[in-house]
Amino acid sequence: MRVGVIGTGHVGLTTCVTLAALGHDVVGTDHDGEKIASLQAGTAPFFEPGLQDLLDDTLARGRLRFTTDDRDAVAGSEVVFICVGTPARARGDANLVAVENAARAVARHATGPVVVVEKSTVPAGTSARVRRTLERERPELSGRLHVASNPEFLREGNAIKDSLEPDRILVGAQSETAFEVMRRLYAPLTAKGHALIETDIDTAELAKHACNAFLALKISYANALARLCERAGADVTRVAEVMGTDPRIGRAFLDAGLGYGGYCFPKDIVAFERLAVRLGYDMPLLREVARINREAVDATAEKVEEALWNVEGKRVALFGLAFKPGTDDTRESPALVLARRLLSEGATVIGYDPQASSNAKADVPELEVAPDAYDAARGAHCVVVSTEWDEFRRLDLARLKDVMAYPVVVDGRNLFDPQVMVSAGFNYVPTGRPAGG
Ligand code: UGA
Repeated sequence: MRVGVIGTGHVGLTTCVTLAALGHDVVGTDHDGEKIASLQAGTAPFFEPGLQDLLDDTLARGRLRFTTDDRDAVAGSEVVFICVGTPARARGDANLVAVENAARAVARHATGPVVVVEKSTVPAGTSARVRRTLERERPELSGRLHVASNPEFLREGNAIKDSLEPDRILVGAQSETAFEVMRRLYAPLTAKGHALIETDIDTAELAKHACNAFLALKISYANALARLCERAGADVTRVAEVMGTDPRIGRAFLDAGLGYGGYCFPKDIVAFERLAVRLGYDMPLLREVARINREAVDATAEKVEEALWNVEGKRVALFGLAFKPGTDDTRESPALVLARRLLSEGATVIGYDPQASSNAKADVPELEVAPDAYDAARGAHCVVVSTEWDEFRRLDLARLKDVMAYPVVVDGRNLFDPQVMVSAGFNYVPTGRPAGG
């Protein structure tokens, strides 16, 4: 099938390469000329495991191409995905200007029947506005421009696998034509047994927000438990283990630490809360989830302050700057929230990240970045584990202790074994669990 994709960010580009890998003919478009130039030259503009290989492969097979011209992506396509950003406005509502512009572009350039698919995360009710926009722009195509919602459930760092081996594919639509087109599009995956769930559009839109908010709720629940465990002398990692053996709860997303970040959770939780208010139902639960998440960074900063007494004039090394391991993405990274707080208190902050150093430096110019973990730790009065990259597990602890000014490690991700750290001579401060020793 011929498919157009508007927006080639994390979601859009993953959609492009995976649909091309499934055998469709895909044209991706973006207004960012630099990004498109990089893609036309065959280079993925961000790090995502497996993405570059799939890009090479689908470009070579002629299944995929890129353009800055919306017309080129829309004209002749049976399906057009809207994968543009939906950033937060000042009060937290999703800014849907890019979605409206994309819908207008589809209407303007459509040459035949098209299913316009919202893949960007949008508040329930958006499809009705998209449909109205399409009808206003091209009234003569009324009945031939269909709208569907097909939210993505992909995790950064796992995006290709999540797209090609999805737990479920969710399609919300209003017409049998739209369902039929989407079934054909995903036939290579449903043939392999991946479930396709069909709902009305409002339900699909709301389900996406509901999933992200629930995952964030689990993380904040674990972080609230961490605060309690610290006061009670209990171990939050063991509490999570016990909870996780109950299949009704599950162990995933119960890791206490610095909290959630990234482009999705922080903005989606606030946008969902704003949607609820707009619909006349207050959900303070969601505000509490966000508050506990902010508290998680504060609690870690307080551990640094407690260990160092005066932070001013001290060197603090941050191990990890990305919002989670496996990505170079620093958007809303809790590590950078912590960096800014420590910098504002007068500390010198040196960060190291296997992938995200240059993005972090662009976000927080006062941050120093080091080429490796030992360099970051050299002369530091405290190391904070802020992102749980695997390579930190393999550090030579004796060497680490040797290069530091004070042997203080605040573990904001419970990466290390407390006993091991204490035996290695560190003043070790984990999150929500006893320090060991
Ligand atoms: C998230 C969802 O997991 C995807 O299903 C969804 O499609 C995506 O958002 C989206 O809406 O686009 P992602 O933002 O890539 O994916 O990251 P996650 O792996 O979910 O992690 C989010 C944050 O939670 C990270 O900062 C991570 O460190 C933190 N986290 C995760 C915890 O603090 N504790 C945990 O137990 C799990």
